[in-house]
Amino acid sequence: MPNILPVKYEDKFCYNINFQSSFNKLYESLIEIKPNKYDKICVVTDDIVEKYYLDDVLNTLNDKFNLVITHIMTNGEKSKQLSEIEKLYEELINHNFSRKDLLIALGGGVVGDMTGFCASTYLRGIDFIQIPTTLLSQVDSSIGGKTGVDFKGYKNMIGAFYMPKLVYINTSVLKTLSKEQFACGMGEVIKYGCIWDSNFYDFLKNNVSYILNKDDSVLEEMIYTCCDIKRQVVEIDPKEESIRSYLNFGHTIGHAIEKMSDFKLFHGQCVAIGMVSAMYLSVKKGWISRNQLDDLKDLLIKYNLPIKTSDISAKDVLLASKSDKKMENQKIKFIVLEKLGKAMPYMDFSDDELLDAISYVIEG
Ligand code: GLY
Repeated sequence: MPNILPVKYEDKFCYNINFQSSFNKLYESLIEIKPNKYDKICVVTDDIVEKYYLDDVLNTLNDKFNLVITHIMTNGEKSKQLSEIEKLYEELINHNFSRKDLLIALGGGVVGDMTGFCASTYLRGIDFIQIPTTLLSQVDSSIGGKTGVDFKGYKNMIGAFYMPKLVYINTSVLKTLSKEQFACGMGEVIKYGCIWDSNFYDFLKNNVSYILNKDDSVLEEMIYTCCDIKRQVVEIDPKEESIRSYLNFGHTIGHAIEKMSDFKLFHGQCVAIGMVSAMYLSVKKGWISRNQLDDLKDLLIKYNLPIKTSDISAKDVLLASKSDKKMENQKIKFIVLEKLGKAMPYMDFSDDELLDAISYVIEG
């Protein structure tokens, strides 16, 4: 497997995804994207990632730039707010950051989305790179330039498409990831098999113990395959006008459950439950067999993901799904499977069909 995967935007080279097993090549990679060097660097991270990896990253950068500062946020979705972005703007202004400088997002999806959003708006846009440290951010959120924050309980309501200059993936960081966080990433990994590549779905079925034991070569193959699928999708449809929406498989109901559970369940867990619900809709339409649905549920369980939730009402979840931004003409744009490995949008589910599918993933 190559360790560089170039991503194009509008048919031109835009940035590399660089696969590494340490942070040792970071400085070299920064020189590749800007040979005359960035002046100042701000590493944005959270209070958990800070403890594990901030020093390693700083060690590769210190003494090589005029100034390297850090900005630490509180870990978790609750930080994904405009008020936190303001604090970052203040930090950058206090240190006279200009367009010659660089932001580095060191962390999971929240840090990546927020740093990218800040980069897209500070001085009308300065460069940023992604160093994703969770499985979910390595296989999904760091690629494709979606940036933003939540707003008044609505996920990712304010944001911009803004491409990073580099995605630097150090796969060795996954060794310290909690079982829960690893599982959350696996939700998105399984999603790629469902929507795009049934052979990859079989690979995930056949390699459960290697993947759970974080076998280096199997994990690298898995991450590379996901990044390559995401690359293909965002190159064809960078602004989510067509097939990028396939990546929302499991997300419409998943986001609604995430909101109704007041973000107590993690995003990847809600996506897993949402995928079961969306697959159930495909079963009801006769596109997917009941066995395939049971098979997906087994696979999610093997990867320590939930397939049901409780203590919320199906009606509330439906209402929240309707306020999700993936609506067209007041109809929910649902991503379903026309077969395993192939997604399609479907807009014509009745409320009764949707309530039935939501109830299927709510206990009691
Ligand atoms: N995470 C979904 C997307 O990038 O479109």
